[in-house]
Amino acid sequence: MTTKLNRRAFVSVISKSSAIGFIAPAWIGAESQANHVFLTKPYLQNPMANAMTICWITAKPSHSWVEFQEVKGGEQRKAQAVVLGLVVANNTMHRITLRNLKPGVTYRYRVCSREIQMFKPYEKTFGETIFSDFYQFTTPDPSNREVSMLIFNDIHDRPLSFGQLMKLNGTDPFDFVFLNGDMFDYQESEQQLIDHLIQPCTEIFASEKPFLFVRGNHETRGKFAYHLADYFENINNQPYFSFTRGPVHFIALDTGEDKVDDDVEYDGLAAFDVFREEEARWLETELQSKSAKEAAFRVVLMHIPPFHSGDWHGTMHCRKLFSPLFEKYGVDMVISGHTHRYGVHKPQEGHSYPIIIGGGPKEGNRTLIKLKANERELNLSMLADTGTEVGIYRLVARKRK
Ligand SMILES: [Fe+2]
Repeated sequence: MTTKLNRRAFVSVISKSSAIGFIAPAWIGAESQANHVFLTKPYLQNPMANAMTICWITAKPSHSWVEFQEVKGGEQRKAQAVVLGLVVANNTMHRITLRNLKPGVTYRYRVCSREIQMFKPYEKTFGETIFSDFYQFTTPDPSNREVSMLIFNDIHDRPLSFGQLMKLNGTDPFDFVFLNGDMFDYQESEQQLIDHLIQPCTEIFASEKPFLFVRGNHETRGKFAYHLADYFENINNQPYFSFTRGPVHFIALDTGEDKVDDDVEYDGLAAFDVFREEEARWLETELQSKSAKEAAFRVVLMHIPPFHSGDWHGTMHCRKLFSPLFEKYGVDMVISGHTHRYGVHKPQEGHSYPIIIGGGPKEGNRTLIKLKANERELNLSMLADTGTEVGIYRLVARKRK
């Protein structure tokens, strides 16, 4: 896709005078984070028909922006983040939304960060500006009649799994990636996010294809769990959300912790029952929406499956709150992880919708789930890390009232 980078050895330093306009970056080595360098390549978040959010991290506080234009030509544009009239600056985690984009159009972009060496009320000192390589993305097109996506789950701090599982896809095109929880064992630091998710994902897709990421029960643990939302941005910037792509209306749920809130391990710091109850109220409204009702397929993505996942509290609470709504409003498929045992569970007593569970995280148990749909049918394929297809499911579009 693009230049292969070692995260400690990629930096493009160009003089401040060349900050305007597209200039091919010259990559030179950087020995330590004492230098003004990118700690990550850019990664795409919150894909919308008319907007795309681009995130990246630098070693030094910076003022950052994105330069972009349509691939077919046209005006060169620049976007920066502005909050309450202030251009965001002197930060290391950069999140900039490109707005007023056209649906279904491919854009070329690079990210730019100007080091801020001193930031005083009436005086600032700027250093070098660094530029990323150029990348491309295509905005979703609401008039598209097809969708193709990849789903990873239960990676559990094994960053090599991303590339190994992605190889199973070969060169088959896809629109976006969904991370269905438990990418980590627990949250400790920004470095963990970089090394175990952002870096491996940008190496294989995330600078040019967006990913969406819902928490599993392991993303709720550890001192850095409080900061996840600083690094990832889902649709409408929400932890649970919905979006339509082609014939599929997707609903992504955050299933929270799996143990009871008063479990001794949480020391009184968990309140997931209330969180899920509020989520269920949102879900009922969501399933009554025009886009949910009119879609050919309604697919729910949630880390903890409501069945086939034991009888711990998280599973049972999800079953109690969400499954009756899935039944009432005709959800066509639920895709989960959590159990580490992959399987396709057809409609049966207890649930009239199929539940697909991806495996992980150890070699031999890992899976890549591929979902493709057009207006007539939805096809899901689950590939084990051996390359064998271990699950398939086909849905035919139902006529809706
Ligand atoms: Fe889990």
